[in-house]
Amino acid sequence: MATGKIIIAIDGYSSCGKSTMAKTLAHAIGYIYIDSGAMYRAVTLFALRNRWIINGKPNVEKIISGLNDMKITFRWDEKTGKNTTFLNGENIEDEIRKPEVSKYVSPVSTIAEVRKAMVKQQRENGKNKGIVMDGRDIGTVVFPDAELKVFMMAAPEIRAQRRFLELTDKGLNVNFDEIKANVDERDKIDSNREISPLKKAGDAIILDNSNLTREEQLKWVLEKVKEITG
Ligand code: DC
Repeated sequence: MATGKIIIAIDGYSSCGKSTMAKTLAHAIGYIYIDSGAMYRAVTLFALRNRWIINGKPNVEKIISGLNDMKITFRWDEKTGKNTTFLNGENIEDEIRKPEVSKYVSPVSTIAEVRKAMVKQQRENGKNKGIVMDGRDIGTVVFPDAELKVFMMAAPEIRAQRRFLELTDKGLNVNFDEIKANVDERDKIDSNREISPLKKAGDAIILDNSNLTREEQLKWVLEKVKEITG
């Protein structure tokens, strides 16, 4: 049994509710929550704004040389009750969820130097423990010694449907088939990339939430935390 605060790593496929669960879990137990995907999305947004992604191809050199000019931070927004992502002081939370960013974030996140810089910041965020972080490589690379590792999955159609509802709720005009194609494409790139591919850590517990409500999955993970921390 662990004494004191622990590190909780939540990995899994795109749009399977990792951040929803990680966020509510962190809130319930008074831990910090870090959305590592938001960091890769912030880099992608910065690259798009600088026109470093041309005809769908990221300009790797430009993106690497721009890494020092990107300061990614998180702040809790009392008004929305959400953890909000900032890039160089600008609130980019809505921008980074848009389909344009989703389309290019997987290729950008395959760049070794980008990963190195993000992992360094993520480890810094977790050095005092008491953190829930979600992503693709948190239990395998960022925090291989995390006390609790969860690997989340859900059927691709269900994940695409969730993302579709999330975007239409925000008033965006999106097409279901395109979203499903993006989910499939990101699964493929995230699982097959050379560096830190998405894979279940040997000691991670699988959670398939295809048929679970948010409340049920929170209850499930709280029980796991309790088993570890006592
Ligand atoms: O969790 P998300 O869908 O917001 O993540 C966006 C992309 O970022 C995802 O397609 C792959 C990449 N990512 C990553 O490579 N490693 C992480 N730890 C988190 C996200």
